[in-house]
Amino acid sequence: MPISATRILPVMAVLAVFAAEQASAQASPAPPVALTAEEDHRRMMALLGIDSLRPGPSGNPRAPNAANADESRASPYASLPDPLVFNDGKPVRTAAEWERRRAEIVEHFDREVYGRVPRDVPGVRWEVASTTREMNGGVPVIVKKLVGRVDNRAYPLRSVAIDLTVTTPADATGPVPLMINFGWAPPPGMRPPPVSANGAAPAAPTWQQQLLARGWGYAVLIPTSYQEDSGAGLTRGVIGLANRGQPRRPDDWGALRAWAWGASRAIDYLETDPAVDARRVGIEGLSRYGKAAIVAMAYEPRLAIGFIGSSGAGGAKILRRVFGEQVENLASSGEYHWFAGNFIRYAGPLSPTDLPVDAHELISLCAPRPVFISVGSPAVEGQWIDARGMFIAGVHAGPVYRLLGRRGLDADQFPPQETTLAGGEIAFRQHAGGHTTGPNWPAFLDYAQRYIGPAASR
Ligand code: GCU
Repeated sequence: MPISATRILPVMAVLAVFAAEQASAQASPAPPVALTAEEDHRRMMALLGIDSLRPGPSGNPRAPNAANADESRASPYASLPDPLVFNDGKPVRTAAEWERRRAEIVEHFDREVYGRVPRDVPGVRWEVASTTREMNGGVPVIVKKLVGRVDNRAYPLRSVAIDLTVTTPADATGPVPLMINFGWAPPPGMRPPPVSANGAAPAAPTWQQQLLARGWGYAVLIPTSYQEDSGAGLTRGVIGLANRGQPRRPDDWGALRAWAWGASRAIDYLETDPAVDARRVGIEGLSRYGKAAIVAMAYEPRLAIGFIGSSGAGGAKILRRVFGEQVENLASSGEYHWFAGNFIRYAGPLSPTDLPVDAHELISLCAPRPVFISVGSPAVEGQWIDARGMFIAGVHAGPVYRLLGRRGLDADQFPPQETTLAGGEIAFRQHAGGHTTGPNWPAFLDYAQRYIGPAASR
């Protein structure tokens, strides 16, 4: 039977209205949600059905509720999850089986710890804002300031730009290896401290100058340019843009994965820069950015090496250890935004021993690539970081490296301060200074050179 025009027309009219609604929905997207960190933290707790969380201990060693610093009370757990045993209890015997096991471990970290990167995170367009020729410690360098504009056509109420500065030796004979540093942005109006009291170059070369002396370049990536370091920022930055200004679901990514995502986008750019050998790019970060650096290493296979500074809890330290910073601290309203909402559950009703994974498995996700775990002296940096907790994680990642034909950490006893353990792909060094990677750069670079090679050879 022929379909009459009178029947088609109303259908077309409905379709037209629908199309118009869609267009106007696109033209005026839902406004972004604004919450304080405390409000968003409570919202997430409600979503998870949690009324209260256990409070974390204090970072002040003199406080009555000071974090434990007594090694004899640090390890109440009976065992650690085994990276070489599948969820169903079967052993992992080959490199091919490890790939399948690795996917299981990634799923645990995604769902329970760091959160999932949405499939449709908008793309980034890199623009070179300026290129200048400068000198650093007597070495001529090319400094490129870059802006990575995140496509916000799907949600124009948020705009996000990644701040990256790439410095390469001007006289290089070919593409150079390069370290990405997760950099701290000085607050507006504050200038970085002078290198010395009279403004002259310090006696010891800076880490940048040490890299240049070996023919390497360096890039400084500012994580807070694309994701704020606060729960209040979760509806802003790249997490907020990808979520169209709405608050997170319990397994959505937190700031650590967002910061690591930025490192991946920086590598996208570096792959297009002829001054850089993108196959020889590493990452370095300290403290919360040490956590971001190990997360980036774990998730981004293009990173060739990691220098993980004082990352502590949520980074390279075993979360089950009762020493220094605890899961309860990480789950509080001041730090929960680093993680997936689901992670809060391990500070109530669950406990850290319920975690399906621990930090040794995060390190094992980096295998077979080299990872250098760095920490300062307990006397200067304090015990919050839990140096031994990171050492133990390194030791227990070893079996995965060995399965892949590499060496893990070549020790099982915690080394004396200023002893470089770098015989295997997992290196460890506790320097005599404070909360910095500074004193460990020479040892890191000696170790890195073994894997990355000298700048001119390819
Ligand atoms: C706090 C926090 C640590 C973090 C550190 C930092 O001490 O508890 O987890 O690493 O800040 O980033 O400086």
